[in-house]
Amino acid sequence: MSDKTIDDILRAVNIVDIISSYISLKRSGVNYKSRCPFHEEKTASFNVNEAKQIYKCFGCGKGGNAITFVRDYEKISFFEALKKIAEKAGIALPKMDTPNKSNSKRDLIYTVYELANDFFVSNFKKYGTKAKKYLEKREIPLELAEEFSLGYTLDSYNALKSYLQKNHITTDIFPATGLFRSNENSDTYDLFYDRLMFPIRNITGKVVAFGGRSLNPDEKQYKYINSPTTDIYTKGRELYGLHITRFEIAKQNSVFISEGYLDFLRLYQKGYKNSVASLGTALTKEQINLLSRYSKNMYLLYDGDIAGIKAAVKAASLIVQNGFNPRIILLPENHDPDSYLLKYTIDDFDNLTESALPLLRFIHTHSSLFGDQRETIQMVLDISSEIEDQIVRELFIREISEIFNIKEANLQKSIREVSYPKKEQTPSKQISYKYEEERKLLKYILKYPEMKEKIAINLESTFFMNDDLRKLYESLIAIKDEENKIESPSILIDKLNLYSEESNQIIDELTQLFFDEDFLDNYEELIRQVKLRKLKADLEYLNGMISEDIENSELLESKLYVKREITKLSKNIVRKTMFL
Ligand code: CTP
Ligand code: MN
Repeated sequence: MSDKTIDDILRAVNIVDIISSYISLKRSGVNYKSRCPFHEEKTASFNVNEAKQIYKCFGCGKGGNAITFVRDYEKISFFEALKKIAEKAGIALPKMDTPNKSNSKRDLIYTVYELANDFFVSNFKKYGTKAKKYLEKREIPLELAEEFSLGYTLDSYNALKSYLQKNHITTDIFPATGLFRSNENSDTYDLFYDRLMFPIRNITGKVVAFGGRSLNPDEKQYKYINSPTTDIYTKGRELYGLHITRFEIAKQNSVFISEGYLDFLRLYQKGYKNSVASLGTALTKEQINLLSRYSKNMYLLYDGDIAGIKAAVKAASLIVQNGFNPRIILLPENHDPDSYLLKYTIDDFDNLTESALPLLRFIHTHSSLFGDQRETIQMVLDISSEIEDQIVRELFIREISEIFNIKEANLQKSIREVSYPKKEQTPSKQISYKYEEERKLLKYILKYPEMKEKIAINLESTFFMNDDLRKLYESLIAIKDEENKIESPSILIDKLNLYSEESNQIIDELTQLFFDEDFLDNYEELIRQVKLRKLKADLEYLNGMISEDIENSELLESKLYVKREITKLSKNIVRKTMFL
């Protein structure tokens, strides 16, 4: 596919619309803002600029154009992201070339999961007597197992391994799939064997992970084995069942959230098709936001024991904090959703749902579980302090006042007493603000691309000390003449072909340059600064070498040369200022 087609697609879409279809953006001056979907944060550092058609997070540094957003948000390959965006823009893509190497890793992992799932399902049909018996005992009908493509892994350490190899998958991708273990001799073995397999699908229906249940009812420690996080799967980002139930959730405008695969299947079987399961981890903010696209009314349906209730309260708190409406369904103490629906009638369950309480009412009704009165109130105040939206927070505090019968002013007072500035979690990949000279020069080139030839003649790229910035400089210089004009930052990303994984840092730098307002409008001065900085670093390096090898005439000569260059550059500036 030609770069031209990609440019056309980028021109036809608006990044604001694309990103809004995943997260909610709020207008703020020339930018749109949101909390960053790529790292945990409490304030909105994520900026989308409509004129430039790029995004940038000032917290974690991630930036890019519409294609990189869809690619990284959906965890799909570059080509799939492009396809999606083209669809939105109503542009038919010409027949695809073979995806290039840098994009094929994710594709390959998806392929492995698809193959694995086919294999597990066919094992279930052919050799799954044990798994079928287990399901029968748990009263899960075979049609249901089929609908969710449950599978079976053979009682073998390398069944999957050889199946994949037969299908021309080479072992070098195995570690990245998370489906294998290896021993000290780095022999690989299947991670799952003799288990009932639940494929976990992302919202588009692709298999991205597996949960494997032991068929031994007494197994405690390894009841479930789960796929690890991989390039296509982040724990706590998917919800089991959602790809099928999302339409029903939207239609009914409510969702039942349970914890287990079996709980989900039972709800679904009994006709509650607006359900999902959160799987393994406590419900996360990502899962809540994902769900909220379909409905904001969320019923928590956790185990009836104390651990279940506490987990439900925690999940409900997080839902409130994100601005949505949870209700907690309380099951009898010895039941989980699966066992309850097996034992009781639909009417019983509907009555329970009917009497489900919103968070504060629930806590108030069961306050003995959370300590004495003071401790309970402290708990709800702590919950309120993490509510993002000011108005929602105020309403919540008013509700605390009503339900717990405490004057609002007193609540406000104890909030102020306990509140202290919370440190934001600092993401690991912060952009460093060193190499300012190099950045300023690049900014100049981006603003005046017609000047770049002049600059290129006067400044070799070896003067750049930062690798990413140097690569950026080289690529900018290399863009052909007739394309001198920079039409939009988004298209520049495309022209520079920055879509491989190794280019991520470079895109982060480039988007930083486009967002930065600080600007110096004199290219000769900018070149001088870049050179001077490098020469000074060279001098320091040479001094270090010389102190260890005083007699080395070659080093001394180099030092002399560098010093002369530094003096020349310094004189330049003196001469210029004299003529001012
Ligand atoms: N889970 C897990 N590992 C465990 C236990 C649980 O990953 N050792 C996850 C599974 O996703 C499971 C969910 O947490 O579905 C809920 O756990 P639980 O209620 O114990 O499991 P059920 O799905 O109800 O399974 P079962 O009824 O067969 O015990
Ligand atoms: Mn269970």
